[in-house]
Amino acid sequence: MANAMRLCTLGLFLLSCWTCEAGSKVTKAVDANMKYKDPKVPVEDRITDLLSRMTLEEKVGQMTQIEVPVATPEIMEKYFIGSLLTGGGTQPVKDASAKDWVDMINKFQKGSLKTRLGIPMIYGIDVVHGHNNVINATIFPHNVNLGVTRDPALVKKIGEATAVEVRATGIPYAFAPCIAVCRDPRWGRCYESYSEDHKIVEEMTDIVNGLQGDLPPNYPKDYPFIGGKDKVAGCAKHYIGDGCTVKGINENNTIIDMKDLMSMLMPAYDLSVQKGVATVMISYSSINGVKMHANKKLIDLLKEKFKGFAISDWQGIDRITYPPDANYTYSVQASILAGLDMIMVPDNYTDFIGNLTKLVNDKVIPMSRIDDAVTRILRVKFLTGLFENPNPDYSMVDMIGTKEHRELAREAVRKSLVLLKNGKTESEPILPLPKKTKKIIVLGSHADNLGYQCGGWTVEWQGYSGNDRTSGTTILKAITNTVDPSTQIQFSEKADPEFLKANKDADFAIVVVGEKPYAETKGDNLNLTIPHPSQEVIKKSCTSGIKCVVILISGRPLVVEPFLPAMDAFVAAFLPGSEGQGVADLLFGDFGFTGKLARTWFKRVDQLPMNFGDKNYDPLFPFGFGLETKKGDGQGEL
Ligand SMILES: *[C@@H]1O[C@H](CO)[C@@H](O)[C@H](O)[C@H]1NC(C)=O
Ligand SMILES: *[C@@H]1O[C@H](CO)[C@@H](O)[C@H](O)[C@H]1NC(C)=O
Ligand SMILES: *[C@@H]1O[C@H](CO)[C@@H](O)[C@H](O)[C@H]1NC(C)=O
Ligand SMILES: *[C@@H]1O[C@H](CO)[C@@H](O)[C@H](O)[C@H]1NC(C)=O
Ligand SMILES: *[C@@H]1O[C@H](CO)[C@@H](O)[C@H](O)[C@H]1NC(C)=O
Ligand SMILES: *[C@@H]1O[C@H](CO)[C@@H](O)[C@H](O)[C@H]1NC(C)=O
Repeated sequence: MANAMRLCTLGLFLLSCWTCEAGSKVTKAVDANMKYKDPKVPVEDRITDLLSRMTLEEKVGQMTQIEVPVATPEIMEKYFIGSLLTGGGTQPVKDASAKDWVDMINKFQKGSLKTRLGIPMIYGIDVVHGHNNVINATIFPHNVNLGVTRDPALVKKIGEATAVEVRATGIPYAFAPCIAVCRDPRWGRCYESYSEDHKIVEEMTDIVNGLQGDLPPNYPKDYPFIGGKDKVAGCAKHYIGDGCTVKGINENNTIIDMKDLMSMLMPAYDLSVQKGVATVMISYSSINGVKMHANKKLIDLLKEKFKGFAISDWQGIDRITYPPDANYTYSVQASILAGLDMIMVPDNYTDFIGNLTKLVNDKVIPMSRIDDAVTRILRVKFLTGLFENPNPDYSMVDMIGTKEHRELAREAVRKSLVLLKNGKTESEPILPLPKKTKKIIVLGSHADNLGYQCGGWTVEWQGYSGNDRTSGTTILKAITNTVDPSTQIQFSEKADPEFLKANKDADFAIVVVGEKPYAETKGDNLNLTIPHPSQEVIKKSCTSGIKCVVILISGRPLVVEPFLPAMDAFVAAFLPGSEGQGVADLLFGDFGFTGKLARTWFKRVDQLPMNFGDKNYDPLFPFGFGLETKKGDGQGEL
């Protein structure tokens, strides 16, 4: 990375720019006139040179991002497509390995490099909690957990590990981080948000430097930075107000005055930009009734202080109208005039290209707007090193799901669980549990289900159920790994009376239940009840006479007040990801609980939205609450 790059100075702008050394396999002899191909030329000069050579067709192509299923190398070449993406859950081939991903990217890149000017495409992918589309990648806890840690340095390390895994599959561009401030847990994407507290979200923008690298000294505060071959271009999203919509309805309307928008929502974008974020994704939602994808005022405000590019969300411009696509020409016109640079089309690219080209030819969209978009896109491509290294190789394929990354994820799990109750009375704590005891029963649908403990955006867009799609440690397996070999473990998903009766001599019941995985709109939920049959499992287990520890797996606080009195201990695990061992580390006292709620735990949904600092704040557990246990202070042998 840094040693393969060289700092040069663009005197006029006091701009330090990073350029890659020449000598890569791809760079052919540098034609003296083809300045943009020369890595020794400052980036801004390369952009100016390249832009001056481009036709409208080539420029419009750069602004077009399409999805793999509709792409071929011939299409990449014919339409000068600037970017490709993989949406949630798409694999290059069934059970794709890292090599399969690299091969796929090279196949499409070949088409792009055949074009007249040989502009490489940039490949982007959703990276919500680790490299989550990829089988056997490390699945980190979701952001709702990471907020609990209050540990930006840890989150930055997660960014570094994630960037390495993304690059291992040949991908240079990650749609992360989500810096939403979720103010209503009824929102299906609330788990993608670090906190209801914008200050925690702001601190966690350190992940930008994890993904992209640390800025060199005196680097400009509006300029993207991508620090080498093990770093990726990032994407702060979703600009702006995605987490504050009415009733938490996904993609809906956020009602907010400019003062609150600037003090609560804008700082995380300002910080991401100052930390060098390469791109910003625009939100489907509206601000005070104006769709963000057509919100020129707010997009201008962003781009005044940001030199990377603004990208749409998936079919985001289609949804400017209701119903979507009611007038696609209008959607293209409104979004491009509002300042969007790259459009995640992602299917009907001929319609997009046709409409945009016509709007420019008809002088509805000025060429200056197109040049602004293409300048920004090329800037990110140059800074990502794509012109020098467009073709990924297999050198990093072994970096998927490494032991080191899994240990980091396990640490994040340990720091991101919140202990909300420990003992029927304070003087009789039951956690940590003894490792050596006669018998422990483990109950619930989420105890031995890797898919459930990872949540949405894991292998599939909506997540999955079971243990056979990717690697990791279920909570049941982790418990088994941790207890003394003499401790008997019995497991049942359901709390059948026969099972409870047969095991009434158990010392403890560990009940692991919660929400099934979901993503985006499918996760919107107005009742926030613990789903069936998890409620029944809690009730039956915790009234059976055996001491019960309930671990809730959920993307957000749920209604637990009615069940709480029967529980002996209650742990909010949120969505811990693939490293379930971190849960057992805490249960059995190898580490102490330290996590503090980064969200308010409400009593009833009729209180929502309710966030800390509100008038009439009457939570079940307040923001910042979390009991602690000391490492190793278990009950010893029973
Ligand atoms: C994932 O890991 C499992 C277990 O180690 C292995 O059997 C499988 O082949 C791996 N799959 C891929 C796609 O790498
Ligand atoms: C918000 O949701 C309501 C109810 O589904 C819908 O009627 C309305 O059009 C939505 N508003 C926006 C801006 O999406
Ligand atoms: C669609 O939008 C375009 C651009 O704003 C406008 O010129 C045209 O009249 C609209 N078409 C219809 C059917 O409303
Ligand atoms: C693009 O195609 C999808 C289905 O492939 C369709 O639902 C959508 O309406 C189309 N959009 C436009 C702008 O034609
Ligand atoms: C614009 O998009 C519409 C709807 O998808 C399509 O029918 C039309 O052919 C496009 N116009 C051009 C000039 O490509
Ligand atoms: C709660 O809302 C979810 C999502 O809309 C729904 O599937 C579920 O049936 C509802 N549960 C109750 C008890 O109403």
